[in-house]
Amino acid sequence: MQETILLTGQVLTFHADPFVAGPEAALHERRGAVALSGGTILETGPEDRLRAAHPGARTISYGDGLILPGFVDAHAHYPQTAIIASWGKRLIDWLNTYTFPEEMRFSDPDYAAEIAARHLDLILAHGTTTVASYCTIHPESVEAFFAAAEARGMRVAAGKTCMDRNAPEGLRDTAQSAYDGSKRLLQTWHGRGRAAYVITPRFSPTSTPEQLEALGALWAEHPDCLMQTHLSEQTDEIAWVRSLYPEARDYLDTYERFGLLGPNGLYGHAIHLEPRERARLREVDAALIHCPTSNSFIGSGLFDMGGLRAAGQSVGLATDTGGGSSFSMLRTMAAAYEVAQLRGRALHPAQLLWLATEGSARALRMEDKIGTLAPGSEADLVILDLAATPAIAQATARAETIWEAVFPTIMMGDDRSVADVYVAGRTMKAK
Ligand code: GUN
Ligand code: ZN
Repeated sequence: MQETILLTGQVLTFHADPFVAGPEAALHERRGAVALSGGTILETGPEDRLRAAHPGARTISYGDGLILPGFVDAHAHYPQTAIIASWGKRLIDWLNTYTFPEEMRFSDPDYAAEIAARHLDLILAHGTTTVASYCTIHPESVEAFFAAAEARGMRVAAGKTCMDRNAPEGLRDTAQSAYDGSKRLLQTWHGRGRAAYVITPRFSPTSTPEQLEALGALWAEHPDCLMQTHLSEQTDEIAWVRSLYPEARDYLDTYERFGLLGPNGLYGHAIHLEPRERARLREVDAALIHCPTSNSFIGSGLFDMGGLRAAGQSVGLATDTGGGSSFSMLRTMAAAYEVAQLRGRALHPAQLLWLATEGSARALRMEDKIGTLAPGSEADLVILDLAATPAIAQATARAETIWEAVFPTIMMGDDRSVADVYVAGRTMKAK
């Protein structure tokens, strides 16, 4: 029989969406516990009750540490790990100057393996247990990423980034090779252990209509797969899309007309949306992925979290490394708070924490497996030290509510705030 482990600390769970139900959607146990066995959560609740229910369990005490589901980063580019925080460019310039030359290196499987390992170890140190990542056009980059995730037992989603125009020689595939390569990788990896394959056209400017059509056909053959791409990130980019696809009604239509709009679609950024685009995205229940550190770092614009969530749009939260400037979902929540403030809206800490866990898990259609502390969920957890630095500790010293206690860590926290991380019930962070 599998050993039962009892983690004790403060526990925060959600029984509803805090964008709908407000902060009362959360349940806080000051002295709580999570019982795990065999990589799965058995139950979550008050420490006293769980101790009585699991008398033989091995107990690990985290004191005042806050036990949460592991963070879920719904959009990242692991091949951009080493070029994070590169100075002074906007999107198209930034892609050409920094991103494409770096992505070129991933034809080398050893380099791909090195960066995949580095990326996953960095995000684990920051409390992120699942990421949906773009790879490069090289199948080797996809193999390396899934292999590194498998070695760590992590649930990840990833796919070969497809591009057949407006990218340098050596970083272009074709409509046919994008279809064939993606299909082969999908057949190898989708559903193997904790891996999920994501069909990944980079964005309309780097694909011909033929390539988008081929990937739309692949998605139609595998509708259970996710599909990820970029949408309406910068105004220059939107003008470029209009010139490349003069017959399209708008940016979203460049995907829609080729079968690349659907409920399992993940649309990164989605800042400058037309009314028709908003309505269609809502109608099909697609997920928009908000990448706030990237949006300010590359100067893209202010995502309309308040309006989109009020309309019932599914939204996930993500770092978008290396366009994003941090591997930390705490820093990402802080940036989401700041972006919303600039639009006149104060996101509640309950909403921020929900977005970084269950919200992103829902966007990835994985909320039955990750992103919550519900019984039967996979035991991917982060334990936050809510007084990790002197600056945070002095701010939380007078906190009277869990929200006052956690908000300084959301705003000022980083990997120092991560006391421990569990992946499928196994601790990953040596203390
Ligand atoms: N649009 C197309 N490719 C990218 C990328 O790599 N990063 C960001 N931020 N936007 C993109
Ligand atoms: Zn991106």
